[in-house]
Amino acid sequence: MIEMPPVVLDRSAPAPLSVQLADALRTAAAGGTLRPGDRLPSTRELAAALGVSRTVTSAAYDQLLAEGWAAGRRGAGTFVVGAAPGPGPVATTPDDAPVEPGAAGLVDLRAGTPCLEVLDRAAWRRAWRAAGDQPPDQAPDPAGDAAFRAAVTTHLLRSRGLGALPGDLLATGGTSAAIGELARVLPPGSRVGVEDPGYQRVVGSLREAGVRVVPLRVDDDGLVVEEVPAGLAAVYCTPAHQYPLGRRMSAARRMALVTRARAEGWWVLEDDYDGELRYDVAPLPLLGALGPDVVVHLGTTSKIVSPTLGTGWLVAPPALRTELVARRTATGTRPGRAGQRVFAALAASGDLARHLRRLRRELAERRALVVAAVAAAGLRAEGDAAGAHLLVPLPDDATEQALVARAAGRGIALDGLGRHWTGTATAAGLVVGFAAPPRAELTTALGVLTEVLRSAAPVRDGGA
Ligand SMILES: Cc1ncc(COP(=O)(O)O)c(C=O)c1O
Repeated sequence: MIEMPPVVLDRSAPAPLSVQLADALRTAAAGGTLRPGDRLPSTRELAAALGVSRTVTSAAYDQLLAEGWAAGRRGAGTFVVGAAPGPGPVATTPDDAPVEPGAAGLVDLRAGTPCLEVLDRAAWRRAWRAAGDQPPDQAPDPAGDAAFRAAVTTHLLRSRGLGALPGDLLATGGTSAAIGELARVLPPGSRVGVEDPGYQRVVGSLREAGVRVVPLRVDDDGLVVEEVPAGLAAVYCTPAHQYPLGRRMSAARRMALVTRARAEGWWVLEDDYDGELRYDVAPLPLLGALGPDVVVHLGTTSKIVSPTLGTGWLVAPPALRTELVARRTATGTRPGRAGQRVFAALAASGDLARHLRRLRRELAERRALVVAAVAAAGLRAEGDAAGAHLLVPLPDDATEQALVARAAGRGIALDGLGRHWTGTATAAGLVVGFAAPPRAELTTALGVLTEVLRSAAPVRDGGA
Protein backbone atom coordinates (compact mmCIF):
# COMPACT_ATOMS: atom_id res chain seq x y z
CA MET A 1 0.00 0.00 0.00
CA ILE A 2 1.17 3.52 -0.76
CA GLU A 3 1.73 6.41 1.55
CA MET A 4 -1.36 8.60 1.12
CA PRO A 5 -0.89 12.21 0.05
CA PRO A 6 -2.23 14.67 2.65
CA VAL A 7 -5.99 15.16 2.25
CA VAL A 8 -7.69 18.19 3.80
CA LEU A 9 -11.46 17.97 4.21
CA ASP A 10 -13.47 21.09 5.05
CA ARG A 11 -16.59 20.29 7.06
CA SER A 12 -17.89 23.82 6.61
CA ALA A 13 -17.70 23.67 2.79
CA PRO A 14 -20.92 23.14 0.85
CA ALA A 15 -19.51 20.11 -1.02
CA PRO A 16 -20.11 16.78 0.76
CA LEU A 17 -17.02 15.21 2.37
CA SER A 18 -17.14 12.25 -0.04
CA VAL A 19 -17.03 14.63 -3.02
CA GLN A 20 -14.14 16.55 -1.47
CA LEU A 21 -12.28 13.29 -0.85
CA ALA A 22 -12.88 12.03 -4.39
CA ASP A 23 -11.67 15.41 -5.73
CA ALA A 24 -8.50 15.25 -3.65
CA LEU A 25 -7.66 11.70 -4.79
CA ARG A 26 -8.46 12.52 -8.42
CA THR A 27 -6.16 15.55 -8.26
CA ALA A 28 -3.41 13.43 -6.72
CA ALA A 29 -3.79 10.84 -9.50
CA ALA A 30 -3.86 13.48 -12.24
CA GLY A 31 -0.82 15.25 -10.80
CA GLY A 32 1.23 12.09 -10.41
CA THR A 33 1.32 12.09 -6.58
CA LEU A 34 -0.60 8.85 -6.85
CA ARG A 35 0.66 6.63 -9.66
CA PRO A 36 -1.08 3.97 -11.72
CA GLY A 37 -0.87 0.72 -9.80
CA ASP A 38 -0.67 2.36 -6.37
CA ARG A 39 -2.88 0.52 -3.92
CA LEU A 40 -5.17 2.78 -1.89
CA PRO A 41 -5.86 2.15 1.79
CA SER A 42 -9.02 0.25 2.59
CA THR A 43 -12.13 2.38 3.13
CA ARG A 44 -11.92 1.46 6.82
CA GLU A 45 -8.27 2.52 7.19
CA LEU A 46 -8.79 5.75 5.30
CA ALA A 47 -11.90 6.60 7.30
CA ALA A 48 -9.97 6.10 10.54
CA ALA A 49 -7.03 8.17 9.28
CA LEU A 50 -9.25 11.08 8.20
CA GLY A 51 -11.69 10.90 11.12
CA VAL A 52 -14.72 10.43 8.86
CA SER A 53 -17.25 7.64 8.54
CA ARG A 54 -16.76 4.72 6.20
CA THR A 55 -19.78 5.88 4.23
CA VAL A 56 -17.71 8.90 3.17
CA THR A 57 -14.66 6.90 2.03
CA SER A 58 -16.81 4.22 0.35
CA ALA A 59 -18.77 6.85 -1.57
CA ALA A 60 -15.54 8.55 -2.68
CA TYR A 61 -14.04 5.24 -3.88
CA ASP A 62 -17.27 4.31 -5.66
CA GLN A 63 -17.15 7.62 -7.49
CA LEU A 64 -13.51 7.08 -8.58
CA LEU A 65 -14.26 3.50 -9.63
CA ALA A 66 -17.22 4.70 -11.69
CA GLU A 67 -15.12 7.40 -13.35
CA GLY A 68 -12.31 4.96 -14.13
CA TRP A 69 -9.67 6.66 -11.95
CA ALA A 70 -9.51 3.58 -9.76
CA ALA A 71 -9.95 -0.12 -10.27
CA GLY A 72 -10.88 -2.64 -7.64
CA ARG A 73 -10.74 -6.34 -7.23
CA ARG A 74 -12.41 -8.33 -4.56
CA GLY A 75 -10.01 -9.12 -1.77
CA ALA A 76 -7.14 -7.27 -3.42
CA GLY A 77 -8.11 -3.69 -2.73
CA THR A 78 -8.54 -0.55 -4.77
CA PHE A 79 -5.83 0.61 -7.18
CA VAL A 80 -5.10 3.88 -8.87
CA VAL A 81 -5.52 3.64 -12.60
CA GLY A 82 -4.09 7.02 -13.54
CA ALA A 83 -6.62 8.80 -15.66
CA ALA A 84 -10.20 8.12 -16.51
CA PRO A 85 -10.30 6.15 -19.77
CA GLY A 86 -11.77 8.31 -22.47
CA PRO A 87 -14.11 7.12 -25.19
CA GLY A 88 -11.04 5.83 -27.15
CA PRO A 89 -10.49 2.39 -28.55
CA VAL A 90 -10.93 0.45 -25.32
CA ALA A 91 -14.05 -1.64 -25.26
CA THR A 92 -15.44 -3.11 -22.07
CA THR A 93 -15.87 -6.79 -22.73
CA PRO A 94 -16.74 -9.71 -20.51
CA ASP A 95 -13.07 -10.72 -20.60
CA ASP A 96 -12.37 -7.61 -18.52
CA ALA A 97 -12.83 -9.93 -15.56
CA PRO A 98 -9.85 -9.37 -13.28
CA VAL A 99 -6.96 -11.84 -13.10
CA GLU A 100 -5.81 -13.06 -9.74
CA PRO A 101 -3.04 -10.68 -8.78
CA GLY A 102 0.09 -11.55 -6.82
CA ALA A 103 -0.07 -11.14 -3.08
CA ALA A 104 1.18 -7.56 -3.29
CA GLY A 105 -1.53 -6.44 -5.71
CA LEU A 106 -0.99 -5.70 -9.38
CA VAL A 107 1.62 -7.59 -11.36
CA ASP A 108 4.22 -4.90 -11.95
CA LEU A 109 5.17 -4.48 -15.62
CA ARG A 110 6.55 -0.99 -15.12
CA ALA A 111 10.16 -0.12 -15.88
CA GLY A 112 12.78 0.60 -13.30
CA THR A 113 12.60 -2.34 -10.88
CA PRO A 114 15.43 -4.90 -10.75
CA CYS A 115 15.04 -8.65 -11.14
CA LEU A 116 15.46 -10.14 -7.68
CA GLU A 117 14.21 -13.61 -8.53
CA VAL A 118 17.64 -14.77 -9.73
CA LEU A 119 19.56 -13.16 -6.88
CA ASP A 120 20.89 -16.10 -4.87
CA ARG A 121 19.85 -15.43 -1.27
CA ALA A 122 22.69 -17.53 0.12
CA ALA A 123 25.20 -15.39 -1.78
CA TRP A 124 23.41 -12.25 -0.57
CA ARG A 125 23.64 -13.39 3.08
CA ARG A 126 27.30 -14.36 2.65
CA ALA A 127 28.13 -10.91 1.33
CA TRP A 128 26.39 -9.15 4.23
CA ARG A 129 28.18 -11.42 6.69
CA ALA A 130 31.53 -10.67 5.04
CA ALA A 131 30.73 -6.96 5.19
CA GLY A 132 29.96 -7.26 8.89
CA ASP A 133 33.10 -9.24 9.59
CA GLN A 134 35.14 -6.13 8.85
CA PRO A 135 35.57 -3.70 11.72
CA PRO A 136 33.54 -0.48 11.69
CA ASP A 137 35.16 2.57 10.12
CA GLN A 138 36.42 5.33 12.32
CA ALA A 139 36.79 7.88 9.57
CA PRO A 140 35.41 6.65 6.23
CA ASP A 141 37.15 7.99 3.13
CA PRO A 142 34.74 10.44 1.47
CA ALA A 143 35.89 9.12 -1.92
CA GLY A 144 34.70 5.64 -1.00
CA ASP A 145 36.02 2.39 0.35
CA ALA A 146 39.28 1.21 -1.26
CA ALA A 147 38.04 -2.38 -1.70
CA PHE A 148 34.82 -1.12 -3.31
CA ARG A 149 36.68 1.09 -5.74
CA ALA A 150 39.01 -1.77 -6.66
CA ALA A 151 36.00 -4.07 -7.21
CA VAL A 152 34.28 -1.48 -9.41
CA THR A 153 37.45 -1.05 -11.47
CA THR A 154 37.49 -4.78 -12.26
CA HIS A 155 33.74 -4.76 -12.91
CA LEU A 156 34.02 -1.82 -15.33
CA LEU A 157 36.82 -3.48 -17.23
CA ARG A 158 35.04 -6.85 -17.51
CA SER A 159 31.50 -5.67 -18.11
CA ARG A 160 32.04 -2.36 -19.88
CA GLY A 161 35.57 -2.45 -21.26
CA LEU A 162 36.45 0.72 -19.37
CA GLY A 163 40.02 0.78 -18.12
CA ALA A 164 39.68 3.07 -15.11
CA LEU A 165 41.94 2.94 -12.05
CA PRO A 166 40.53 2.90 -8.50
CA GLY A 167 41.78 6.47 -8.05
CA ASP A 168 39.75 7.64 -11.08
CA LEU A 169 36.45 6.85 -9.43
CA LEU A 170 34.35 7.82 -6.45
CA ALA A 171 31.75 5.74 -4.68
CA THR A 172 28.29 7.34 -4.83
CA GLY A 173 24.93 6.83 -3.20
CA GLY A 174 23.54 5.78 -6.59
CA THR A 175 23.00 7.69 -9.80
CA SER A 176 20.30 10.14 -8.73
CA ALA A 177 22.27 11.07 -5.62
CA ALA A 178 25.42 11.51 -7.69
CA ILE A 179 23.60 13.75 -10.16
CA GLY A 180 22.48 15.91 -7.21
CA GLU A 181 26.08 16.17 -6.00
CA LEU A 182 27.32 17.08 -9.48
CA ALA A 183 24.61 19.72 -9.87
CA ARG A 184 25.70 21.35 -6.61
CA VAL A 185 29.24 21.90 -7.82
CA LEU A 186 28.07 23.64 -11.01
CA PRO A 187 28.09 27.45 -11.04
CA PRO A 188 24.84 28.96 -9.66
CA GLY A 189 22.15 29.40 -12.31
CA SER A 190 23.65 26.71 -14.57
CA ARG A 191 21.50 25.09 -17.24
CA VAL A 192 21.71 21.33 -17.73
CA GLY A 193 20.31 19.55 -20.78
CA VAL A 194 18.47 16.26 -20.29
CA GLU A 195 17.23 13.71 -22.80
CA ASP A 196 13.49 14.05 -23.33
CA PRO A 197 11.82 11.67 -22.69
CA GLY A 198 14.14 10.76 -19.87
CA TYR A 199 14.65 9.60 -16.32
CA GLN A 200 12.50 11.85 -14.15
CA ARG A 201 14.40 11.15 -10.91
CA VAL A 202 17.46 12.74 -12.47
CA VAL A 203 15.35 15.71 -13.54
CA GLY A 204 14.09 15.89 -9.95
CA SER A 205 17.63 15.73 -8.53
CA LEU A 206 18.81 18.49 -10.85
CA ARG A 207 15.88 20.76 -10.06
CA GLU A 208 16.18 20.14 -6.34
CA ALA A 209 19.81 21.24 -6.57
CA GLY A 210 18.70 24.53 -8.15
CA VAL A 211 19.76 23.78 -11.71
CA ARG A 212 17.66 24.85 -14.71
CA VAL A 213 16.68 21.81 -16.75
CA VAL A 214 16.57 22.03 -20.56
CA PRO A 215 14.79 19.17 -22.38
CA LEU A 216 16.71 17.80 -25.38
CA ARG A 217 15.22 15.83 -28.25
CA VAL A 218 16.05 12.15 -28.76
CA ASP A 219 15.58 10.11 -31.94
CA ASP A 220 16.45 6.56 -33.01
CA ASP A 221 20.18 7.42 -32.85
CA GLY A 222 19.91 8.83 -29.34
CA LEU A 223 20.34 12.43 -28.24
CA VAL A 224 20.11 14.79 -31.22
CA VAL A 225 23.46 16.46 -30.55
CA GLU A 226 23.20 19.07 -33.30
CA GLU A 227 20.05 20.50 -31.69
CA VAL A 228 21.56 20.94 -28.22
CA PRO A 229 21.52 24.69 -27.52
CA ALA A 230 24.70 26.57 -26.64
CA GLY A 231 25.37 27.77 -23.12
CA LEU A 232 24.73 24.59 -21.13
CA ALA A 233 26.92 23.56 -18.21
CA ALA A 234 26.24 19.84 -18.65
CA VAL A 235 24.28 17.32 -20.70
CA TYR A 236 22.75 14.21 -19.14
CA CYS A 237 22.22 11.15 -21.34
CA THR A 238 21.79 7.36 -21.36
CA PRO A 239 23.83 6.32 -24.42
CA ALA A 240 23.95 2.55 -23.81
CA HIS A 241 20.17 2.16 -23.65
CA GLN A 242 18.12 5.33 -23.86
CA TYR A 243 15.72 5.55 -20.96
CA PRO A 244 12.90 5.00 -21.67
CA LEU A 245 12.93 4.63 -25.50
CA GLY A 246 15.46 1.77 -25.39
CA ARG A 247 17.81 2.64 -28.27
CA ARG A 248 21.53 3.16 -28.00
CA MET A 249 23.30 6.30 -29.14
CA SER A 250 25.02 5.91 -32.51
CA ALA A 251 28.80 6.05 -32.74
CA ALA A 252 28.61 9.26 -34.78
CA ARG A 253 26.46 10.99 -32.16
CA ARG A 254 28.84 9.86 -29.40
CA MET A 255 31.77 11.46 -31.19
CA ALA A 256 29.76 14.60 -31.92
CA LEU A 257 28.71 14.90 -28.28
CA VAL A 258 32.23 14.60 -26.93
CA THR A 259 33.54 17.01 -29.57
CA ARG A 260 30.95 19.67 -28.70
CA ALA A 261 31.47 19.12 -24.98
CA ARG A 262 35.19 19.83 -25.42
CA ALA A 263 34.60 22.85 -27.62
CA GLU A 264 31.87 24.38 -25.44
CA GLY A 265 32.98 23.38 -21.96
CA TRP A 266 30.10 21.05 -21.04
CA TRP A 267 30.29 18.11 -18.74
CA VAL A 268 28.65 15.05 -20.26
CA LEU A 269 26.87 12.96 -17.61
CA GLU A 270 26.78 9.39 -18.98
CA ASP A 271 24.17 7.37 -17.06
CA ASP A 272 25.16 3.74 -17.73
CA TYR A 273 22.34 2.41 -15.55
CA ASP A 274 21.94 -0.99 -17.25
CA GLY A 275 24.99 -1.12 -19.49
CA GLU A 276 25.95 -4.55 -18.12
CA LEU A 277 22.70 -6.01 -19.46
CA ARG A 278 22.91 -6.54 -23.21
CA TYR A 279 21.85 -9.67 -25.03
CA ASP A 280 22.16 -9.40 -28.76
CA VAL A 281 23.53 -5.96 -29.31
CA ALA A 282 27.17 -4.98 -29.78
CA PRO A 283 28.57 -2.54 -27.24
CA LEU A 284 29.69 0.84 -28.56
CA PRO A 285 32.54 2.77 -26.96
CA LEU A 286 31.54 4.37 -23.69
CA LEU A 287 31.48 8.14 -23.63
CA GLY A 288 33.70 7.79 -20.58
CA ALA A 289 36.32 6.12 -22.80
CA LEU A 290 35.91 8.54 -25.73
CA GLY A 291 36.16 11.69 -23.63
CA PRO A 292 37.57 11.03 -20.16
CA ASP A 293 38.40 14.75 -19.90
CA VAL A 294 34.76 15.90 -20.27
CA VAL A 295 32.63 12.88 -19.33
CA VAL A 296 31.34 11.80 -15.94
CA HIS A 297 30.54 8.10 -16.28
CA LEU A 298 27.88 6.98 -13.78
CA GLY A 299 27.08 3.42 -12.75
CA THR A 300 24.79 1.90 -10.17
CA THR A 301 24.25 -1.33 -8.28
CA SER A 302 20.48 -0.72 -8.32
CA LYS A 303 19.80 -2.63 -11.56
CA ILE A 304 22.35 -5.40 -11.37
CA VAL A 305 21.94 -6.22 -7.66
CA SER A 306 19.38 -4.20 -5.70
CA PRO A 307 18.64 -0.60 -4.67
CA THR A 308 19.01 -1.91 -1.09
CA LEU A 309 22.72 -1.26 -1.50
CA GLY A 310 22.12 2.44 -2.23
CA THR A 311 25.46 2.45 -3.96
CA GLY A 312 26.98 3.41 -7.28
CA TRP A 313 30.12 4.96 -8.74
CA LEU A 314 31.31 7.75 -10.93
CA VAL A 315 34.42 8.07 -13.03
CA ALA A 316 35.34 11.71 -13.53
CA PRO A 317 38.28 13.94 -14.41
CA PRO A 318 40.58 14.73 -11.45
CA ALA A 319 39.58 18.37 -10.91
CA LEU A 320 35.90 17.50 -10.69
CA ARG A 321 36.60 14.58 -8.34
CA THR A 322 38.57 16.91 -6.09
CA GLU A 323 35.66 19.36 -5.99
CA LEU A 324 33.17 16.62 -5.18
CA VAL A 325 35.35 15.22 -2.39
CA ALA A 326 35.89 18.73 -0.99
CA ARG A 327 32.14 19.28 -0.90
CA ARG A 328 31.59 15.92 0.80
CA THR A 329 34.22 16.79 3.38
CA ALA A 330 32.80 20.26 4.00
CA THR A 331 29.21 19.06 4.33
CA GLY A 332 29.79 15.70 5.99
CA THR A 333 27.81 13.96 3.24
CA ARG A 334 29.29 10.75 1.93
CA PRO A 335 27.83 7.60 0.41
CA GLY A 336 26.94 4.86 2.91
CA ARG A 337 29.63 2.30 3.58
CA ALA A 338 27.55 -0.83 4.06
CA GLY A 339 26.42 -1.09 0.43
CA GLN A 340 29.99 -0.58 -0.76
CA ARG A 341 31.24 -3.41 1.47
CA VAL A 342 28.50 -5.78 0.36
CA PHE A 343 29.15 -5.08 -3.33
CA ALA A 344 32.90 -5.59 -2.82
CA ALA A 345 32.19 -8.88 -1.04
CA LEU A 346 29.91 -10.08 -3.85
CA ALA A 347 32.64 -9.25 -6.35
CA ALA A 348 35.45 -10.86 -4.35
CA SER A 349 33.62 -14.18 -3.91
CA GLY A 350 32.76 -14.51 -7.60
CA ASP A 351 29.05 -14.34 -6.72
CA LEU A 352 28.63 -11.07 -8.64
CA ALA A 353 29.98 -12.60 -11.87
CA ARG A 354 27.73 -15.66 -11.42
CA HIS A 355 24.74 -13.46 -10.67
CA LEU A 356 25.35 -11.29 -13.75
CA ARG A 357 25.50 -14.36 -15.98
CA ARG A 358 22.18 -15.64 -14.56
CA LEU A 359 20.61 -12.20 -14.73
CA ARG A 360 21.54 -11.69 -18.38
CA ARG A 361 20.17 -15.11 -19.33
CA GLU A 362 16.95 -14.57 -17.42
CA LEU A 363 16.30 -11.07 -18.72
CA ALA A 364 17.10 -12.05 -22.32
CA GLU A 365 14.49 -14.83 -22.06
CA ARG A 366 11.97 -12.54 -20.44
CA ARG A 367 12.50 -9.92 -23.11
CA ALA A 368 11.82 -12.51 -25.83
CA LEU A 369 8.56 -13.45 -24.05
CA VAL A 370 7.44 -9.82 -23.96
CA VAL A 371 8.32 -9.25 -27.62
CA ALA A 372 6.24 -12.33 -28.50
CA ALA A 373 3.32 -11.16 -26.34
CA VAL A 374 3.36 -7.74 -28.01
CA ALA A 375 3.63 -9.27 -31.49
CA ALA A 376 0.69 -11.57 -30.73
CA ALA A 377 -1.40 -8.43 -30.30
CA GLY A 378 -0.27 -7.18 -33.72
CA LEU A 379 1.92 -4.48 -32.22
CA ARG A 380 5.64 -3.77 -32.40
CA ALA A 381 8.13 -3.75 -29.54
CA GLU A 382 10.92 -1.21 -29.98
CA GLY A 383 14.33 -0.88 -28.41
CA ASP A 384 17.61 -2.76 -28.40
CA ALA A 385 17.93 -6.26 -26.97
CA ALA A 386 19.26 -4.92 -23.69
CA GLY A 387 18.24 -3.97 -20.19
CA ALA A 388 14.89 -4.73 -18.59
CA HIS A 389 12.32 -2.70 -20.52
CA LEU A 390 11.10 -2.06 -24.04
CA LEU A 391 8.76 0.37 -25.73
CA VAL A 392 5.46 -0.35 -27.43
CA PRO A 393 4.64 2.72 -29.54
CA LEU A 394 0.99 3.82 -29.58
CA PRO A 395 -0.84 6.29 -31.78
CA ASP A 396 -1.83 8.81 -29.11
CA ASP A 397 -2.09 9.68 -25.41
CA ALA A 398 -5.72 8.65 -25.20
CA THR A 399 -4.86 5.10 -26.29
CA GLU A 400 -1.92 5.04 -23.88
CA GLN A 401 -4.03 6.11 -20.91
CA ALA A 402 -6.85 3.80 -21.87
CA LEU A 403 -4.52 0.80 -22.09
CA VAL A 404 -2.90 1.61 -18.73
CA ALA A 405 -6.39 1.83 -17.22
CA ARG A 406 -7.57 -1.33 -18.85
CA ALA A 407 -4.45 -3.24 -17.77
CA ALA A 408 -4.92 -2.07 -14.17
CA GLY A 409 -8.46 -3.38 -14.31
CA ARG A 410 -7.02 -6.74 -15.36
CA GLY A 411 -4.45 -6.83 -12.58
CA ILE A 412 -1.39 -5.39 -14.36
CA ALA A 413 0.45 -2.15 -13.60
CA LEU A 414 1.72 -0.64 -16.86
CA ASP A 415 3.81 2.43 -17.40
CA GLY A 416 2.79 5.04 -19.98
CA LEU A 417 5.45 6.99 -21.86
CA GLY A 418 3.52 10.09 -20.79
CA ARG A 419 5.12 10.33 -17.37
CA HIS A 420 8.67 10.33 -18.76
CA TRP A 421 8.51 13.67 -20.53
CA THR A 422 10.19 16.78 -19.17
CA GLY A 423 8.89 19.11 -21.90
CA THR A 424 6.01 18.54 -24.29
CA ALA A 425 5.13 14.94 -25.12
CA THR A 426 5.61 14.20 -28.81
CA ALA A 427 4.91 10.47 -28.81
CA ALA A 428 2.83 7.94 -26.93
CA GLY A 429 3.51 4.39 -25.91
CA LEU A 430 3.91 1.88 -23.14
CA VAL A 431 7.23 1.35 -21.40
CA VAL A 432 7.04 -2.34 -20.51
CA GLY A 433 9.36 -3.49 -17.75
CA PHE A 434 9.93 -7.22 -17.40
CA ALA A 435 12.27 -7.56 -14.44
CA ALA A 436 9.99 -7.05 -11.45
CA PRO A 437 7.57 -10.00 -11.20
CA PRO A 438 8.57 -13.59 -10.57
CA ARG A 439 8.79 -15.50 -13.87
CA ALA A 440 5.58 -17.46 -13.30
CA GLU A 441 3.58 -14.29 -12.65
CA LEU A 442 5.16 -12.62 -15.66
CA THR A 443 4.10 -15.44 -17.96
CA THR A 444 0.48 -15.21 -16.82
CA ALA A 445 0.53 -11.43 -16.99
CA LEU A 446 1.84 -11.48 -20.57
CA GLY A 447 -1.21 -13.42 -21.73
CA VAL A 448 -3.35 -10.67 -20.29
CA LEU A 449 -1.07 -8.01 -21.75
CA THR A 450 -1.64 -9.41 -25.24
CA GLU A 451 -5.41 -9.22 -24.75
CA VAL A 452 -5.20 -5.70 -23.41
CA LEU A 453 -2.96 -4.56 -26.28
CA ARG A 454 -5.34 -6.04 -28.84
CA SER A 455 -7.77 -3.30 -27.91
CA ALA A 456 -5.35 -0.76 -29.42
CA ALA A 457 -7.02 -1.59 -32.74
CA PRO A 458 -6.01 1.60 -34.64
CA VAL A 459 -2.32 0.64 -34.70
CA ARG A 460 -2.65 -3.10 -35.28
CA ASP A 461 -0.77 -4.35 -38.32
CA GLY A 462 -3.15 -5.41 -41.03
CA GLY A 463 -6.10 -3.65 -39.41
CA ALA A 464 -8.77 -5.05 -37.16
C1 LIG B 1 17.71 5.71 -16.20
C2 LIG B 1 18.09 5.27 -14.83
N1 LIG B 1 19.22 5.71 -14.30
C3 LIG B 1 19.62 5.32 -13.06
C4 LIG B 1 18.85 4.47 -12.30
C5 LIG B 1 19.34 4.02 -10.95
O1 LIG B 1 19.37 5.07 -10.13
P1 LIG B 1 19.89 4.89 -8.62
O2 LIG B 1 21.31 4.47 -8.70
O3 LIG B 1 19.73 6.28 -8.08
O4 LIG B 1 19.03 3.88 -7.96
C6 LIG B 1 17.65 4.00 -12.81
C7 LIG B 1 16.79 3.13 -11.96
O5 LIG B 1 15.63 2.96 -12.17
C8 LIG B 1 17.26 4.41 -14.10
O6 LIG B 1 16.11 3.97 -14.62
